[in-house]
Formats: sequence, structure tokens, C-alpha cells
Amino acid sequence: MSGIPEKWQWFNEARYGLFIHWGPYAAYGRGEQVLFREHLDQREYGERACAWNPRVFDAKGWAEAAVRGGFKYAVLTTRHHDGFCLWDTKTTDYSTAAQSPKRDFVREYVDAFREAGLRVGFYYSLADWRVPAYWCGPEEDPDGFESFRQYVHDQVEELLTQYGQIDLIFFDGAWPHGADRWQSEALIEKMRAWQPGILINNRLDCETPFSVYGGASEEAPGHSAKLGDYGTPEHEIIAEPNRLWESCQVSTWRLWGNTHGERWRDADVMLDMLVDCAAKGGNLIMNVGPDADGRFPRQFVERTDQIGDWLKIHGEAIHGSEGGDVCEFITWGYQVRKDNNLYLIIRFWHDGGELTLGGLATKVKRVELLTTGDELTFDQTEDHLIIRGLPAKAPTDLFPVIKLECEAPPRPCDWAKDRLWGGDPRRMLDWAKARGTSVWADGKQR
Ligand code: GLC
Repeated sequence: MSGIPEKWQWFNEARYGLFIHWGPYAAYGRGEQVLFREHLDQREYGERACAWNPRVFDAKGWAEAAVRGGFKYAVLTTRHHDGFCLWDTKTTDYSTAAQSPKRDFVREYVDAFREAGLRVGFYYSLADWRVPAYWCGPEEDPDGFESFRQYVHDQVEELLTQYGQIDLIFFDGAWPHGADRWQSEALIEKMRAWQPGILINNRLDCETPFSVYGGASEEAPGHSAKLGDYGTPEHEIIAEPNRLWESCQVSTWRLWGNTHGERWRDADVMLDMLVDCAAKGGNLIMNVGPDADGRFPRQFVERTDQIGDWLKIHGEAIHGSEGGDVCEFITWGYQVRKDNNLYLIIRFWHDGGELTLGGLATKVKRVELLTTGDELTFDQTEDHLIIRGLPAKAPTDLFPVIKLECEAPPRPCDWAKDRLWGGDPRRMLDWAKARGTSVWADGKQR
């Protein structure tokens, strides 16, 4: 995407982030919203939160797993909708610093991830389910809401002024209040002063009916078309045309916080999401819900290690890529562009030893099976490229990648400019005519 300010180029370069949903809810093992979804007793939840003491938690271990997994940045829930803070805050004693752990988990996270060379982000929920004024709003409780809003601004100030450079902030939970009530624009202005380089997501308002699960009736309250430097499609991969975006996805089936009995997406499913995002010119932020003691689940690490190994060889097709979809390739997989290169990321491997790519107009200079480093022979006609000498068996359990070095930035030939099922159908006329003008059955012209 052109026109991205220099200070945000890292985000586009990164393509792959790690979302960490962690808080006292992990002890329930039923996701991050257990308090609300199960309408639990507020006091009991609060007591358990204050007693929560994850002794195994080691931010360095998390950072190492993140680096091995090929992630380039991370976003930690500093506070989720339950209101429990993971940092040393002066605004409340409902925090890990004041309660059992007596530790500032946010600082430990920032230090370890920064040290490991990763970009650092915070998730912060505007919503706080403990606060009556949050629920009733300023009409019913103007003073209560005002002091709650001030509390929110103060907490954001702490987070963005006491932990050095913060690269990104992911707000959530604006619903049911709009940007005016949160004074989001004023907050944005302050945040830019505290952190001139920061990227701010699009959930500081709740005006836009973004569809979450594909159905038009299901809306994502809290997403804004206007506010925010980047979009955050959730559980879906939809490119935002005019700004940066990252699709947030779970590595499991549904929930973000640690969940007993969860089922895990396989590494190829997770990688498929990453490649889909890259092919559409955006990022993937993949979630982990550490357990109550502070461990990344084994199943998550196994999968992200596998993806990290794949990225070691194929990362040039993902990090800093520019989106793909140059010409038709759906029968094989995805395309991703970078400079004069076109990367073919293969989902469906055939054993025929050949691959034909239709619709590429740019002259190809060299073809390499990136997975093995082997140079491949090829023939190129006006609109077809035939690559030969592919191994019968896929050279990786995940997706093999073929790199095409072209003479110029890859572009499609005329018939392949619009996607096949769009545009003017008449551009296929010559192609159809090549078979005959009135063909009803083979060998029988009428
Ligand atoms: C949400 C949820 C939530 C989760 C998140 C991640 O809308 O309320 O629990 O943290 O988005 O994107």
C-alpha cells in the first residue's frame, strides 16, 4: 500500500503479530469473557482475581517463543473488559502490582519483548464491566460516567508514558458508547503527543456496522470507519482498501482467553490465514491464551514453531510483501508480490512435475523453488508460464513457494486484469472463439 508514513512502515513489513489474551479469567478456563457470559457474581470474581498469582509466568520465555514462531510484534491485554489491570497503576488497586503477584506484568512483557527485538503493543479495553456508570452511561449518571472516562484516560496515559516506546495500541470495548462519550478524539491527540510513532486501531467509536462473521446482521460494535490508523477485522480476512489492517484470529475455535478442552487449528490452517492476509496486503495477528500459571499452551507452541520454521525459509514472501492477486492462481494457491518478484504459495500440490500460470504479462527471468533453493526451468508464452521439473512430492508439509524473478513489477495481461468472475465477460470472446463459433458437442459442428 502506498502512502503509508515512514514511521508505520514496520507494521507493513511485519505482517505477523502475536495477540496475547491473559488475565485472571485464565483461571476459569472458559475464555476471556467468562464474567459477563456466565453472569458471574462480581464479588467472587473480584476475589479470585485478587488471589490470582501466576508464578510460572516468564515474559522472556514468551518472547523466545514469539521469536521462534516468526512473529514480529505482539499485543498484550493490559486490561480486558473485566477491569483487572496487569500493570502497576495508581488509578486502582485492582491490579497484579497491588494484589497477589505484586508484579508489574506489563513492564515484564515490554522489557522482554523489546529486548527480543519485537515491536510492542498494548490491548486496552475501554469497557469495564465492574463499573455501574459504564453500563448506564452519562444520561443516568453524569458524574459517575465522567469520572470513569477520566479513569480510562488516566490509565491510557500511564500505559503510554511509563513504558518507553509503545508501537501500537489496540482499543476494544467502546460499545455501547460512541467516540463523543469516550472523548476519543481528544485522547488520540494526547496519545500522539505521548507516543508520536504509535499506531492506533479503529475501535475508539462504535458507529460502524462492520460484519464480523460474514452475516450482514451480525455487527461488530466498536469498530470505526473514521477513527483509527488501522482496521481490525475479527475472525475474518477482509482487506481495508484505504488504511493498514490486521485480521485478528484465534488459534483455537472461538475464544481468546485460555479455554479448557479447546480444539486447535492445525499449523497449515494458521499459516493459510497468514498467507491469505499477505496476499490481500494486510497483517495477521494470531492469538494465544496463556494458562492461569502463565504458560503458552503446548499445542500453540508446536504449531507456531512449525510456522516459524517455514518462515525461516519462506519469510521473504511474507514480511514486507505487497499483496498479490496479479493474475488467476486459485487452482494452486496464493500469489504475493514484492518488488519485481512474484511468489507462488502453493496450497494444492500436484504430482505432475509442472505448473502452468495463466495471465502473467511480465517477462520472467528466473524461477526458483524457494523451499529447496533449486532453480527451475520454464517456458513463457504471451500469457502462460509453464514451470517444469517440480518434485512429485511437496517439498514441505506446509506450503511450498515458487519465486518468479521478473524483469519489472509483475502485472497481468489484458484478459487477466479483472478477476475472471468480474469485469466485462466479452474479454473472453477470442478465447472461446478459438474453439469454434458454434460448438454444441465435440466433433459435431451445427
Ligand atoms: C472483542 C472481544 C474480545 C476480544 C477481542 C479481540 O471484540 O470483546 O473478547 O478481546 O475482541 O479482537
